[in-house]
Amino acid sequence: MGSRIIGTGRGLPSASLSNQDLERLLDTSDEWIRSRTGIGSRYLMRTGESLLDIAHEASRRALDKAGMKPGELDAIIAGTVSSEYAFPSFACQVQRMLGVTSIPAFDVAAACSGFVFALSVADNSMRAGVWKKVLVIGADALSTMVDWGDRRTAVLFGDGAGAAVMINEAGPRGVINTLLRSAGEAWELLSLRATGIRASADSELRRDPVDTLKMRGPELFKIAVKSMADITRQVAEQAGVSLNDVSIIIPHQANIRILNAVAERLGIPTEKVFINLDRYGNTSAASVPIALDEALEAGRFGDNDLVLLNACGGGLTWGASLLRW
Ligand code: ACO
Repeated sequence: MGSRIIGTGRGLPSASLSNQDLERLLDTSDEWIRSRTGIGSRYLMRTGESLLDIAHEASRRALDKAGMKPGELDAIIAGTVSSEYAFPSFACQVQRMLGVTSIPAFDVAAACSGFVFALSVADNSMRAGVWKKVLVIGADALSTMVDWGDRRTAVLFGDGAGAAVMINEAGPRGVINTLLRSAGEAWELLSLRATGIRASADSELRRDPVDTLKMRGPELFKIAVKSMADITRQVAEQAGVSLNDVSIIIPHQANIRILNAVAERLGIPTEKVFINLDRYGNTSAASVPIALDEALEAGRFGDNDLVLLNACGGGLTWGASLLRW
């Protein structure tokens, strides 16, 4: 028995901010942001918007595409570090919005790797026969947690949510192999004190600067390239699959230079790597499921194709999942 994704969906804030818009807020330039990161614009939550609403929308879309009613679900798992509350979990709050009762709902905190980690929890539980139908969400709003006076971090992040509905199924299609890794000893390279969502880009409310996202970008860059390349190679090798046979790689969208360097290390043509960070920025745990939904919608892969998801983020955490679609 294994598990297979049968529906995906995404949800986004209503407003997109371009690099030119940011030039008016910060000492930065479109040229710097594009050349260093590949980002052109990002969706940012505005005052009054809720990440829960956005995740709910992504979940409804994924359920619709799966042809499934919320009441059929056996579990809800959310990969997020952006819950407004320490408890109830983000997943419990989505559960309430979906009107589902009496099933487990919980969060997985693995920062930008959150969706891949949550997918692995769902897959393992379905392999063990615990659940048959699971909603997996990746949602984050890191733009509400950066220091908007710090141009080194403020330009990088966007907000959003993606979701996938998974079913328990025998047969060759579905999740083939997943590998997860963490390096707690390097946690200080990327961190955020747990004080919940505090401010949208246009609000007066601000986090105390000590509570904003802290990042040692250049060090993180090198680790991200190595860890994403290694885990991608390992997840395929362990499954006895050649990366040449993988139709598409759907990576966490942090930085175009990271993604190009990973592709180069692996000897993979960059056309095989799905990129949408130019329009979204780094949406943390939402980036893989948003990209998966877009790539599918764009017809970039189809039934029986090999699809590889990979991610790296705070923790540090990283992981990869190989699927036969
Ligand atoms: N606009 C203009 N100039 C800027 C900006 C900006 N937004 N940000 C930094 N600079 C300046 C700096 O002040 C510095 O100037 P100085 O030399 O006069 O001091 C110069 O640009 C170079 O700064 P660096 O930080 O060395 O720039 P670098 O080339 O390393 O790029 C970046 C920074 C894009 C953050 C890069 O290190 C990176 O992408 N790291 C990975 C971080 C990441 O992706 N984090 C996301 C979470 S982890 C993950 O998702 C994998």
